[in-house]
Amino acid sequence: MELYFAESKVEDIIPLRHKVLRIGRPIETCHFSGDNDQSTYHFSAKYKDEVVGCLSFMLATHSNFEEEKAYQLRGMAVSPEYRGRRIGEQLLSYAENALVKKGFRFIWCNARETAIRFYEKQAYTSYGRVYHIPKIGNHMTMYKYLKDAEKRVY
Ligand SMILES: CC(C)(COP(=O)(O)OP(=O)(O)OC[C@H]1O[C@@H](n2cnc3c(N)ncnc32)[C@H](O)[C@@H]1OP(=O)(O)O)[C@@H](O)C(=O)NCCC(=O)NCCS
Repeated sequence: MELYFAESKVEDIIPLRHKVLRIGRPIETCHFSGDNDQSTYHFSAKYKDEVVGCLSFMLATHSNFEEEKAYQLRGMAVSPEYRGRRIGEQLLSYAENALVKKGFRFIWCNARETAIRFYEKQAYTSYGRVYHIPKIGNHMTMYKYLKDAEKRVY
């Protein structure tokens, strides 16, 4: 399966966010505040020109972490038909390496409870307890220092 990973325009990943993360909700809910900031980076995984995976990194501090140049991982999604083929893992690794090259080393995210295990497998650590976000579900704050990211090559 030939996949293509790259930095992406936000318009290209909105349909996948809608399909996976905001099912049945208005398309406007797929636009996140900060999407068009210069410091925000979007990444996609493509298979035969179709976007099958996406994620975004937004510069954002977190009150529980001291890092000033922290990035929040948002909108991580793989199309249901393509799950379980390491697309999420490879896309996240590709994007983490790109972030390291840009000089950033700390990522945190509000992980859906159903995705905690996926993030643990990508060496993210849980912080605190599971909490509820209305309309979206239970979440866990997770984080990762990227110092070893360059060692993995896909
Ligand atoms: C979470 C998600 C991005 C994973 O993408 P994927 O391409 O299917 O994951 P991969 O194939 O790269 O999986 C890598 C590893 O994580 C595991 N994994 C993936 N998703 C998992 C899940 N939801 N629960 C438990 N383990 C999971 C895989 O079994 C695999 O484990 P292994 O190394 O032991 O074989 C995808 O399932 C998804 O889009 N889910 C819905 C949206 C979502 O929850 N996004 C996260 C929002 S915080």
